[in-house]
Amino acid sequence: MFVQTLQAKEPRSALILFEKKCQMCHASTLPKTPEEQNKMVSPPIAVVMKNTVMGIDAELDVGMPESEIRKIAIPFMKDYLYNPDRKKTNCEDISFDRFGMMPSLKGFITEDELDVMLPWVYDRFKPTKVNDKWIEKK
Ligand code: HEC
Repeated sequence: MFVQTLQAKEPRSALILFEKKCQMCHASTLPKTPEEQNKMVSPPIAVVMKNTVMGIDAELDVGMPESEIRKIAIPFMKDYLYNPDRKKTNCEDISFDRFGMMPSLKGFITEDELDVMLPWVYDRFKPTKVNDKWIEKK
């Protein structure tokens, strides 16, 4: 049990979880060609992370420190992944019109797995603020 816990905390496990549970919908890179753009079934993860961070930043206190945003974003994602709700979303209507709602991942990924993966997803794909504008990770 102890050994398993240690292994589960390795970033490699987070990457594998992301590849198995998220990447079939959320690409880890931005589309480079119109063909890639057309093939998308969900927004790329960097776009989703930009929307999440922008939403928190705008809703609560524009210009709050990124360490504070991170503390809110990770629990927000955890809740959203089990209970997606259009009222909670930070994605734009245009995203819903094209991709629909994200399905609940209850039963597909455990809470322990989310706790391992979400901080990694956040740090790996979060946007950066340049001249007061959030830019998604390339
Ligand atoms: C079956 C496809 C599918 C899978 C699997 C999936 N997603 Fe999503 N996800 C979507 C779609 C479509 C949206 C955009 C619409 C929405 O926000 O519900 C979305 C939106 C999101 C959002 C944005 C929430 C917001 O602010 O509105 C986050 C964060 C997210 N996904 C993270 C993940 C992570 C992390 C995983 C892997 C554990 C994952 N998704 C797996 C389809 C998927």
